[in-house]
Amino acid sequence: VALIEAQRSEERHHLTQKGAAPSTDAADGPLTAYLFERARAVRRQRYGDKVFIRGLIEISNRCRNDCLYCGIRRSNECAERYRLQPADIIACTDKGYELGFRTFVMQGGEDPFFTDEVLCPLIERIKANHPDCAITLSLGERTRESYQRLFDAGADRYLLRHETATDAHYRRLHPSELSLATRKACLSNLKEIGYQTGAGFMVGSPYQTVENLADDMLYLDELQPQMVGIGPFIPHRDTPFRDHAAGSVAQTLFFLGCLRLMLPASLLPATTAIGTLDPQGREKGMLAGANVVMPNLSPPENRGKYLLYNDKLATGCEAAEHLRELDRRFAAVGMRIAVDRGDFAG
Ligand code: 5AD
Repeated sequence: VALIEAQRSEERHHLTQKGAAPSTDAADGPLTAYLFERARAVRRQRYGDKVFIRGLIEISNRCRNDCLYCGIRRSNECAERYRLQPADIIACTDKGYELGFRTFVMQGGEDPFFTDEVLCPLIERIKANHPDCAITLSLGERTRESYQRLFDAGADRYLLRHETATDAHYRRLHPSELSLATRKACLSNLKEIGYQTGAGFMVGSPYQTVENLADDMLYLDELQPQMVGIGPFIPHRDTPFRDHAAGSVAQTLFFLGCLRLMLPASLLPATTAIGTLDPQGREKGMLAGANVVMPNLSPPENRGKYLLYNDKLATGCEAAEHLRELDRRFAAVGMRIAVDRGDFAG
C-alpha cells in the first residue's frame, strides 16, 4: 500500500510486481483502511459522489465454451437454457429507460444465434429509440471484424474479463480451445477499435496464487482499460470446481482499492458476486473505491436462470426495479445514483 501511495503521489499510478505481492497479505490489516481512504479521495476527485448504474440484460445463457468455473458452461446439462429474442431485449431497454438507466449492457454466453446480422440491427434500433444511452456488449470472444461491425452499428463499450493474466493459471481454468493469448488479442482489438473496454479477473479462483494476482494488476496497468470488473470466485454445484472454496470479499475489496489508485479514472463496479457473498458487499465496494453497479434488467422470468455460480443474486437490490432502495443504501455511504451514461472521464 505504501508503495502504491508513494507512486500515486508522483502521479505515476504504476505498480511493480515486487510491491504488489507482499501487500496483499495485509488485506484486512490497518493499512487497508488507509488504502480505501485514498481510493475514495481519488474517486471523488474524478467522479464526485456519483454511482453509475448499468441495466444488465442477460440475453442468453447458451454458451459454446466450457470454462471449468462457470455454471453456464456447455457441459452443464442441469442448466435450464434460454435465449431472449431481439424484441424482448428492446422491451427491456424501454423499461430500463423509464427507470432511469442510460446504459444498457447486453451480456450473454457465446451463443452462435447472436451473429452480427442479428446484433447490428438490434444495436441500431436501441440507439434510435434512446439516442442519449450507451450500449455495452459482453458477449465474449469474436473476430476483430465482428467487433468493428458492432462498434460501427453503435456499440460504445465492451466487457471481456481476462480472468487471469498468467498463462499456466489460465489453462487450469479453461478447456484447451481457449487461450490467454486470444483473450488478450481480443482486448487489444477492442481498445484499438475505440470501445471503452473492460477487463477483469476473479479473486480466489481455484489454484490462484498471490503472484497470479500481481500479474493481473501488471497486465491491467499495461492494457489501461476504461473499466475493470472483479469479483470473488463462487463455486457452482454443477461444475468441476464445485468443491473449491469461494474467494474472499476482503481480498476483492483490497484489489478494488488498488485498482482505483492504479487506474484513477476507471469505472469499477461493485459486482453481483460481492453482493452475493456479503449482504453489505455493494456498499463496501463503494467504500473501497468502486463507482458502478449493474442491476438486473432481464425479464424477471429469466433472472433465475443466468446462474454463473451458486445463489447468484437476482432479486432485492439486485433488481432494476429497486433503484430507490439501492440509492438509499448508497446515500448511507455518501454516494448517490446518477441518471447519466457514466462515460469514462480519463
Ligand atoms: N464465480 C464468480 N465469477 C464467475 N464468473 C463466471 N463464473 C463465475 C464463478 N463461478 C465471472 C467470470 C465471467 C463473468 C461474466 O462472470 O469472470 O467473466
